[in-house]
Amino acid sequence: MSHRVTLLPSGEQFQADADVPLLLAAEQAGIALPSSCRNGSCRTCLCRLVQGDIRWRIDWPGLSPDEKREGWILPCVASACSDLVLESTPVRWDQA
Ligand code: FES
Repeated sequence: MSHRVTLLPSGEQFQADADVPLLLAAEQAGIALPSSCRNGSCRTCLCRLVQGDIRWRIDWPGLSPDEKREGWILPCVASACSDLVLESTPVRWDQA
């Protein structure tokens, strides 16, 4: 099952399979989101879930209960359960 993910503020979109981490799904679509550890601990990929539902792929992602309640997610260890809207700005290597 594949879901559409929309990034704010750019409006870029990609498809994310339910069994693929969002970070990887974005990369497969040619969109590089900020990342480092890719295992839910460094928080480099931290972004806000504006709309939709995700599933955590690990039991203890590096977020506080308050952060989770406020909608913060770590896309390296989260997968889409519905169409999503995320606040995240892709890395632009050509503008570095
Ligand atoms: S890349 Fe480190 S927490 Fe996501």
